[in-house]
Amino acid sequence: MKIKPVNSYNEMSKLAAEIVARKIKDKPNAVLGLATGSTPLGMYRELISMYKEGKLDFSKVRTFNLDEYLGLPPSHPQSYSYYMHENFFKHVNIKKENIHIPSGNAPNPTQECLKYERQIEEIGGIDLQILGIGVNGHVGFNEPDINLKALTHIIQLADETVKANSRFFKNIDEVPKMAITMGMGTIMRSKQIILLAWGLEKKEAVIKAITGPITTKVPASLLQLHKDVTLIIDKRIYEKLKEDRK
Ligand code: PGA
Repeated sequence: MKIKPVNSYNEMSKLAAEIVARKIKDKPNAVLGLATGSTPLGMYRELISMYKEGKLDFSKVRTFNLDEYLGLPPSHPQSYSYYMHENFFKHVNIKKENIHIPSGNAPNPTQECLKYERQIEEIGGIDLQILGIGVNGHVGFNEPDINLKALTHIIQLADETVKANSRFFKNIDEVPKMAITMGMGTIMRSKQIILLAWGLEKKEAVIKAITGPITTKVPASLLQLHKDVTLIIDKRIYEKLKEDRK
């Protein structure tokens, strides 16, 4: 795992956007794995600026999002489909047919998972996957458990996740309790991964992911087994990591 400590949220966002931009320049039809939440918002803003300045072309880029709440239609303001369109897609020249997000209101969610996994496989896998990390060490919505599922699947959200995500809803009861998520196998087959973490509330999860045992209780710890992972993390977390290692 490569670790890049950063001094600010903006520095993290710029660095992540540069890695994405480099990938698209090397491979204009790159397949990007995208994340939602507060963490990647700055990265999307940077990518939009690069596009508006004529430095980046998304016309051939293909994307697959990590996850979606089950039960929310794409028009719901808290759906990840809505988030992606508002915060990124509508500002760049990506083609609609190249965007993939699991459908939260598919009539048959199990079939939707199978279809999503097949689409990723048929396209040749993900070239660059962007990840955030949950306070409990989840990636995508792969929640800590005694076992994990490899492929795209339906999952019940952990209480910590429902609580953490309730900040986006009017009240905690409105937060969906189920979601569709890529599995750890889907994620681990990405050729390159960058994980972003800003804020001290992520400290424990990040430290366990980097230095802890590889365990399904900290899904992000599985990333230790991947050969091309870059963690762009809050310098304060990095300092703590160094102290722990002394
Ligand atoms: P956040 O979520 O970016 O909103 O902190 C990250 C996650 O839960 O994976």
